[in-house]
Amino acid sequence: MGKFIVFEGIDGAGKSTQVKLLGKWLSERGYEVVLTKEPTDTAFGKLIRRLVLTGGREGIIDGARISPEAEALLFAADRAEHVHKLIKPSLEAGKVVISDRYFYSSLAYQWARGLDLEWLIDLNRFALKPDLVILLDLPVEEGMKRINRRSLKTEFDKIIELQKKVRENYLKLAKRFPEIKTVNGLADVEAIHRDVVALVERELGIK
Ligand code: TYD
Repeated sequence: MGKFIVFEGIDGAGKSTQVKLLGKWLSERGYEVVLTKEPTDTAFGKLIRRLVLTGGREGIIDGARISPEAEALLFAADRAEHVHKLIKPSLEAGKVVISDRYFYSSLAYQWARGLDLEWLIDLNRFALKPDLVILLDLPVEEGMKRINRRSLKTEFDKIIELQKKVRENYLKLAKRFPEIKTVNGLADVEAIHRDVVALVERELGIK
């Protein structure tokens, strides 16, 4: 069996940069690495982007056309496909899977949307447990600054109050789920990478 590593954090936390750096670090040590993300690039993920994230006419935030429950179900459907078609087969082939967001995003964000945490956990019961979840934690204002430099902004990205709740939720989740390890996301890219590598070495015995 391979290893399953997940990166989590608010928008602008620096997850995708750290995913790439860890992927490179592992490849250089001879591990077969699969880099992936949620929402995925499959038809489900694309549907979610169109309905939920891009803030177009079908967006949830101004139009309120999609209920929070429907949104949670779409993210869960995307995840089910992700687990069955990519994550499980890759782990069975002995690879290291690194995902930019997973189940914990649904807990942090959809809980912040007002849904019941226990319902969300039940809904995602199928989601294979990662070996290690790295939470990049930083103040929302810093995350926002980084996002504003990017061109594409999602509706979720723009809402600072939601992001604050999401950050608090992640920190609460870190107390409940022992696989979550928190890293200071305010440090510079190299320092964060060193912290990540230390966790991977310590928690997974990967050298
Ligand atoms: P993000 O990682 O920002 O994707 P990208 O950078 O490729 O646009 O994810 C998009 C948004 O989706 C982000 O604001 C978090 C949200 N999200 C949920 O609300 N629930 C979930 O289960 C997942 C996976 C993401």
